[in-house]
Amino acid sequence: MVYDQTKKKYLKKIKLLEKYNKFYFESSHPLVSDKEYDQLKLDILKIEKKFPYLKDKNSPSLKVGFKPSKNFVKAKHRVPMLSLSNAFSEEDLNNFEKKIINFLSLKQSSELEFSAEPKIDGISASLNYKNGIFVKGLSRGDGIEGEDITDNLKTINDIPKKILSKNFPSEIDIRGEVFITNNDFKSISEKFANPRNAASGSLRQKNSKETQKIPLKFIAYTFGYASNLSIENQSDFLSNLKGWGFKISKFNKTIKGIKNLVLYHDQFEKKRYNIDYDVDGIVYKINNFDLQKRLGFVANAPRWAIAHKFSADSSISKIINIDIQVGRTGALTPVAKIKPVNIGGVVVSNATLHNEDEIIRKDIRIGDVVKVERAGDVIPHVISVDKSKRDEKSKKYIFPNKCPSCGSKTVKDFNEQTKKHDAVRRCINDGFNCEKIAMENIKHFVSKDALNIDGLGKKVVEKFWELKIIKYPQDIFKLDYHKIEKLDGWGELSVSNLKYAIEKSKNIKLSKFIYSIGIRHIGQENAKLISKHLKRPENFFKLPIKSGIESLLNIDGIGETQIKSIKKFFSNKSNLNVLMELKKFMKIIEDVDLKKEGLLSNKTFMFTGKLKEMSRAEAKSLVEKNAGKIISNVNKKLNYLVIGEKPTNKKVIKAKDLNINVITQDDLIRMLNKTS
Ligand code: IVH
Repeated sequence: MVYDQTKKKYLKKIKLLEKYNKFYFESSHPLVSDKEYDQLKLDILKIEKKFPYLKDKNSPSLKVGFKPSKNFVKAKHRVPMLSLSNAFSEEDLNNFEKKIINFLSLKQSSELEFSAEPKIDGISASLNYKNGIFVKGLSRGDGIEGEDITDNLKTINDIPKKILSKNFPSEIDIRGEVFITNNDFKSISEKFANPRNAASGSLRQKNSKETQKIPLKFIAYTFGYASNLSIENQSDFLSNLKGWGFKISKFNKTIKGIKNLVLYHDQFEKKRYNIDYDVDGIVYKINNFDLQKRLGFVANAPRWAIAHKFSADSSISKIINIDIQVGRTGALTPVAKIKPVNIGGVVVSNATLHNEDEIIRKDIRIGDVVKVERAGDVIPHVISVDKSKRDEKSKKYIFPNKCPSCGSKTVKDFNEQTKKHDAVRRCINDGFNCEKIAMENIKHFVSKDALNIDGLGKKVVEKFWELKIIKYPQDIFKLDYHKIEKLDGWGELSVSNLKYAIEKSKNIKLSKFIYSIGIRHIGQENAKLISKHLKRPENFFKLPIKSGIESLLNIDGIGETQIKSIKKFFSNKSNLNVLMELKKFMKIIEDVDLKKEGLLSNKTFMFTGKLKEMSRAEAKSLVEKNAGKIISNVNKKLNYLVIGEKPTNKKVIKAKDLNINVITQDDLIRMLNKTS
């Protein structure tokens, strides 16, 4: 009873604080005095200290990021602001290097040169300069479209407002990080959970006078659009930035070879706490701009850069039990239920043990004293076991070999690339035959990035599942709303909202649809690539016919792993049935493709034989960059067959028969150099 009352009181205070925040950040009129605001926050923190289990996801101690205010005008980035892939180990870096070497078809022993730059944990911004004048500043937003926060950015002293240097491009977007030093943060720490939030919150003030009060800093590191920039590499670009009047990091360094990157990373990691702002890793970028251009991007991250992250906060706790969770892809994930422990300000009571191999390798047992690590919003995980504290009677943990949900056999897939078995054990009963997998599939289907049905969160899906209201994704469209209205916690209004959200979700773009149905290895980016390639929604449903699935291999970014997974998906009867049912209820529409103009637009290409100084992947990406399309069969739709060394004769003969242009790699390059 006392618990319930405290919880009520606590949640009420959180709600009130949220209301104050909204006014504070989105309008220039705070609802209460700073003192009153601070007192409310202190009250909340006090309750949390006494009852850590009450901690709500909206607690000020956990808050990261603010919803972008609706007050700012949105604007498109001329060149998208991309994100970076992460590396956590030397092995990750070696793989990163190998991919680059293969893509560029370089000698395996090549030593690449990188620009190594601290990754400041702030908020990125893009500053547009025209004829030396800072005219417009955008936040990153979703990378494609940002918010116009020019006035707020103008309050930052580190941002030059006028640049007179002769060699400054007539138009350029300078990009970098807005942040606040830890020292400056101290004076406003009552209002924000951490320095990153402080920077983000201040940048989103409606009134730039409020932003001005906060000592924000700016460090520049890259550019988006640039007119006639004649610089050859990143390190020279950084020196130029300095010459133009921007602040750059004094820790930037040009480094050759992975071993030396690791040395630099480890040295920096040791001194990171002596620096007065948060750095969460080192970014490595291929130094040479020509190579960067050749390497290009996969999905929304460049092939030529990676962020090597630092290790995270950790604490010691004890494993009370091990739960096996069955995920959407059938993966059996062992999760340690641990004695609740505070790690870097967050109470953690679950920590992933990743997979069976990891348990065996570390010999993790129930009752063990373990070190648990947590980094940002990544799920906490068990790092190591303190075997000296182990109970003599403890027994080795035996991983179940049957699916805990449906009792089916579980297997570890053989990976053709690594020639090893996967570390992850999976339930073989995929599709919708295993209850847990089916339920996870439905949760995914309605989730924010998929159908985005408001009012159908994970808990509601679980409840509806339990009550046998839903079993398959299509059941969402057959709900008995009268029945739902009578359920605990539901009413006329919430049911009508749900109905509205479901109706709205029926119209869906093909890329979203592909992502929503939850094919393993097909995330949002891959779904977009596939949708762009297939164009018409019917083509997706026709994929299993002839060699439709194989043809997806032509897409830059789609490989054998994805193809195998798509095949498996379509070979499962329950999946096919779900697809057919969904088709009845949903209106799937073609993604609007901003017609890409390029030297090769409307032309199709196919390659045969070994190419010179270029991998097949690079050749494909080159064709696509210029708006051409790759196809995998010699047929009437093919315009050019590009032949390298030792081509397949059959293909050449067939192409000649069909009057298709048979050209060499040099011919292709000449086509591309024509007007550019
Ligand atoms: S380069 C394609 N350089 O990291 C290149 N980013 O995950 C992407 N960041 O949004 C940006 N320091 O906020 C780059 N020296 C640096 C960086 C850096 C921090 C942040 C930036 C970006 C995120 C990418």
